[in-house]
Amino acid sequence: MRLTVIGTGYLGATHAACMAELGHEVIGVDVDADKIAALSSGRIPFHEPGLEKLLGKHLASGRLRFTTSYEEAAAFGQVHFVCVGTPQSYRSDAADVRYVDAAFAELARHAAPDAILVGKSTVPVGTARRLADAHAVEVAWNPEFLREGFAVQDTLRPDRLVFGVESERAGALLREVYALVLAAGTPLVSVDFPTAELVKTAANAFLATKISFINAMAEVCEAAGGDIGKLAEAIGHDDRIGAKFLRAGVGFGGGCLPKDIRAFAHRAEELGVSLGFLREVDAINMRRRDRVVELTRELCGGSVMGARVSVLGAAFKPDSDDIRDSPALNVAARLQLDGADVTVHDPVAMDNARKAFPLLGYALSAEEAIRGADAVLHLTEWAQYGELDPVRLTGLARTPRLVDGRGTLDGARWTAAGWDFRAPGRPAHPHAAVIKER
Ligand code: UDX
Repeated sequence: MRLTVIGTGYLGATHAACMAELGHEVIGVDVDADKIAALSSGRIPFHEPGLEKLLGKHLASGRLRFTTSYEEAAAFGQVHFVCVGTPQSYRSDAADVRYVDAAFAELARHAAPDAILVGKSTVPVGTARRLADAHAVEVAWNPEFLREGFAVQDTLRPDRLVFGVESERAGALLREVYALVLAAGTPLVSVDFPTAELVKTAANAFLATKISFINAMAEVCEAAGGDIGKLAEAIGHDDRIGAKFLRAGVGFGGGCLPKDIRAFAHRAEELGVSLGFLREVDAINMRRRDRVVELTRELCGGSVMGARVSVLGAAFKPDSDDIRDSPALNVAARLQLDGADVTVHDPVAMDNARKAFPLLGYALSAEEAIRGADAVLHLTEWAQYGELDPVRLTGLARTPRLVDGRGTLDGARWTAAGWDFRAPGRPAHPHAAVIKER
């Protein structure tokens, strides 16, 4: 089939390359000429494992190309996917849908009368209906659930497909687009417009709630002397609860969960439904950043003024260079404002971090960041940080103190190597707990 993908950010670039991989002819469209030039020459302007390879493969196969011209794209495609961003508005928690509106308006102006416009962006419920009423073209909604760092696999082998459609024809066209994915056994849920829009926001709200739930339990563990790692492990064995998304620590960030739960609560309130618990989910999440700042202060004897602090991680999560609402950089910047001399390391997000936070210090390796540190903070759980050798690093730091803001390091190992090791929601001296356990 001939498809177009409007917007070539994380979602759009991945969707375009993956649609080519599924055998379609695809044009990617963006108003940003630099982005289009980069993609056309095989470069992805962000870090996403496996995507550059797929892009190169399909630029070469001739199934994928990019343009800044809506007219060219509209004349080409039978199915148009709208993958533009819906950031948080400046004045409120509402999602800013102006890019979605503009994309639909442009496409509706140029598209063939029998074309179908498929929204993939995360939007306030009611958007698809409004767009379908405003334009004389067929509309469908097909939300995406891709995680950064796993975007290619989540697109080619998703947990489920959701089609928000109002006609047999729209459903049939989407089934044709995803024929190979469906043939592999992927479940398909066909629904109306509002349900399709709500599936996405509900899924993100549930995930955020799960993380904030375990972080609230971490607060109780801190107050009562419990261990959140063991608690999460134990409740995760109950398959009604499940072990995933129960990692307590510095909390969630990124371009989706924080803004999506705010926009969802805002939209529900417009509809007369109170989702007040999502405000609490947000508040718990933000408190975890405060807690890591506080733990660092405690470790440094009550103040970080003049202390050298090393921050391991800048991306909001590993395998990504995305620093949007990154808990790591939020903590780093706050410690710097409190008078600390902060040095950040990240395997791939350094350029983005430097642009957004030019006054923080940056080191080219974790070892270099740790050299001379009074406190080391582990705030993005890159695999390479899990492989650091605490014994070798003891001599590198000025004072061996470590806050594990992700709860993924082996506290007993670091403590045994002489580090003063703290992790939110965990006992101050994990080696003591390990000894008791035996
Ligand atoms: C999320 C959803 O998972 C995805 O389905 C949706 O389409 C977009 O938003 P993403 O933002 O890429 O994806 O990241 P995700 O893997 O969900 O992690 C979000 C944040 O939660 C990260 O900051 C991560 O570090 C944090 N997190 C995740 C935790 O703090 N604890 C956990 O147990 C899991």
